[in-house]
Amino acid sequence: MRINKQFFSSLRWRIAFAYLMVIGIGFLIINLSIMEILEQHLLESKKTSYQKYSIQLAQLIANGYYEKDPDIYYQIREFGNEIDQIEGESTRILILNKNGIVEQDSYQSTSLLRRNLLEDYEEVAQVLQGVSVPAKDVYIYTGNHEEYKRVLYAYAPITHYTEGIIGMVFMSASLDGIVSVLDDIRATIAFFSAIISVSIILISFILSSFITHPIKELTASITRMSKGHLNQRVKVMGSGELRQLGEAFNEMSERLENLDNARNEFVSSASHELKTPLSAIKVLAESLLSMETPDLEIYREFLTDINFEIDRLNAIITDLLTLVQIDKEDAANRFRKELVPLNELVKRTIKGLQLLADQKNIRVELLNEEEVVVVGDKLKLQQVISNIIDNGIKYTPEGGRVTVEVYNTPDYGVVKVSDTGYGIPANEINHIFDRFYRVDKARSRSTGGTGLGLSIANRIVMLHNGYIRVSSKENKGTTFRIELPYGNLEETESK
Ligand SMILES: Nc1ncnc2c1ncn2[C@@H]1O[C@H](COP(=O)(O)OP(=O)(O)OP(=O)(O)O)[C@@H](O)[C@H]1O
Ligand SMILES: [Mg+2]
Repeated sequence: MRINKQFFSSLRWRIAFAYLMVIGIGFLIINLSIMEILEQHLLESKKTSYQKYSIQLAQLIANGYYEKDPDIYYQIREFGNEIDQIEGESTRILILNKNGIVEQDSYQSTSLLRRNLLEDYEEVAQVLQGVSVPAKDVYIYTGNHEEYKRVLYAYAPITHYTEGIIGMVFMSASLDGIVSVLDDIRATIAFFSAIISVSIILISFILSSFITHPIKELTASITRMSKGHLNQRVKVMGSGELRQLGEAFNEMSERLENLDNARNEFVSSASHELKTPLSAIKVLAESLLSMETPDLEIYREFLTDINFEIDRLNAIITDLLTLVQIDKEDAANRFRKELVPLNELVKRTIKGLQLLADQKNIRVELLNEEEVVVVGDKLKLQQVISNIIDNGIKYTPEGGRVTVEVYNTPDYGVVKVSDTGYGIPANEINHIFDRFYRVDKARSRSTGGTGLGLSIANRIVMLHNGYIRVSSKENKGTTFRIELPYGNLEETESK
């Protein structure tokens, strides 16, 4: 029962059924109308013939009937035989007098002789009154097994040139011939309809497999994917919607796989980054514990180192949390939309980093005092500018110089930070925005860097629809250009 239900709700069955319905209904309508037209045509021609026969007979016997010639009985039978031969049906001919009483019957039966038919057939009265009544077909009850027979009646008045209507001819003919021809045709049509229906179902079943096969394959792939096997790809064949579906699926699975890989990589590098200060702390603590004679100086020194490592741990975790936040789908919506004067922000940032620069004897200069105002999240933008100026100070040897310019262009405000530092090798410049990426591991670790600063900065600027450009020459210096579109305070929708 279940299997049946599943089978009938399958796409293949539905397509086959739809084909069957559309073609089948069209077929049925055509058949019915052809049958109807054919039946009408056959009946009409029969009626016309019998109408003619009855008029011919009426004319033939008019005189004889008037003169009560006994020969007319033979004339009638002969005429009847001729009709039977032409039509292939048995015809009964009655001659009624002008009162509607049967006087002659081509069947030699006595059942109707002398009977008055005026009552039984209203047409008889009409014909005798001179009304022309067309032939008609009727169903009559045969008397056994509830069987009905289809017969045709035709009427004609017998007219004498002086007396007027003196009687009438009443013919009745069986329509068995027509009925059996129509039955034959119907049976043939039914037979072929059945064959055609079966063929439609078979053909559409085969055709629909072209549609359902790729869908089945795709479903299997998706099922495997949902169980964790992300490396699923389907074969893309043909053209049209199924091709697009396959391509979309492959793209999606590739992205998912990449995301999965990136996540794994991220988790492993994050753990690695966290492990480094932790191992340092453990080594320091263990050496303190194993010390035989307590020495306050060494305690203080080791604890300072431990404190430094804890600060690093803290910095990494803070950065990680920031990354998680700005990585969220709707991060841009959570950003504040306020007017941010970039020149003031830069000035304040430089002031905050002054101590660091002084320690390395590095001059930080603000070259341009132009007022630049963009719409964005002030705190987040401060974080970007701070990281980039901080990098400039960190990756420039003592006695160097960091210069900052803030200026307007037609499309965006720019903060440009140049240093006279170590520079970045050309083959690594594409990676500096990657998470945890550091050009010179030893140097940046000694400066306390996590390698997350630029990836956070880049993401924040991207969420502001801006762009960070870098150019660098090794041992000469590096220039960062932060381009921020001016934006619109009222703008509510986000990218
Ligand atoms: N101005 C620069 N000059 C030379 N190298 C740079 C400069 N800015 C960044 N880099 C290189 O790019 C790497 C990534 O920078 P990023 O700011 O992301 O990390 P970080 O400064 O090491 O750590 P964090 O900023 O999180 O404290 C740095 O480790 C450094 O090697
Ligand atoms: Mg940095």
